[in-house]
Amino acid sequence: MEKYILIIGACGQIGTELTMTLRKKYGNDHVIASDIREGNETLMNSGPFEILDATDSNALEEIIAYYEISEIYLMAAMLSATAEKFPMRAWNLNMNSLFNVLNLGKEKKVDKIFWPSSIAVFGPNTPKEATPQNTIMEPSTVYGISKQSGERWCEYYFKNFDVDVRSIRYPGLISWKTMPGGGTTDYAVEIYHKALEEGTYNCFLKKDTVLPMMYMDDAIKATLQIMEADAEDIKVRSSYNLAAMSFKPEDIAQNIQQHIPDFTITYEPDFRQAIADSWPSSIDDSDARADWGWKADFDLDKTTATMLSNLKKNKAEAE
Ligand code: SER
Repeated sequence: MEKYILIIGACGQIGTELTMTLRKKYGNDHVIASDIREGNETLMNSGPFEILDATDSNALEEIIAYYEISEIYLMAAMLSATAEKFPMRAWNLNMNSLFNVLNLGKEKKVDKIFWPSSIAVFGPNTPKEATPQNTIMEPSTVYGISKQSGERWCEYYFKNFDVDVRSIRYPGLISWKTMPGGGTTDYAVEIYHKALEEGTYNCFLKKDTVLPMMYMDDAIKATLQIMEADAEDIKVRSSYNLAAMSFKPEDIAQNIQQHIPDFTITYEPDFRQAIADSWPSSIDDSDARADWGWKADFDLDKTTATMLSNLKKNKAEAE
């Protein structure tokens, strides 16, 4: 049987690159992109696109039936910083979109679901270093509470309704193709743009705030890998810890200075500092490594070199 995939939230930071990667793999017409707004030209012109509000279950069902979708990647969500400002909107979007998709799994209208969780499921009482897969969680942010609840529901739907849902706790994600929006780890993307455009960056986190991070290619690789794994190898049905690197703003600034010696950084922590302080600084991802062979390719040096060279190329083309 032919496979048709639906990406919800296809125009966001992860969704854009995930859609393009899946289109390359399965064919443009087999990957239906959807979002509440239109995305960049490459995405819009490379295959089918539908405007979809992820909380609208009827509209979602229509798309599933029309395209004979068997696999859904639910990438739509309100991230940590924005969610603190709009708690009810965040809860509504993050939870109802998940229920809509899980219920399609329960009704056997789709075969497989990917739903991203986050390091935000952890909280101030979680061990900060090498945070284990199973540990105290107690998230203290709106976003983290929604992700932890989501994880519980994923496991519940797997156990009780045999829904094949798979999930990863993404760290902060760094990419040059699409900007992140409303997250606490966004500084690690903004800093590269500002370094090239202005030679300086005013960071909203303190210089010594260590957070787990990952380059987008690794995040996409992990997503495809967990979705392709045999069902019996997916032993964690809440969400897997996933790691690549950990660094603080000061480290990334020094790393950029190796390419742009005059680059300067200033620090002006805002409300996002408290969010970052509640999260782990490094993650133990041994379960993902053991169960489905996870291994990251990008460290900070490689990330910085890739970010700067691609953004430089983009800038030159735009000028
Ligand atoms: N990158 C996300 C955020 O900062 C964490 O999942 O909100």
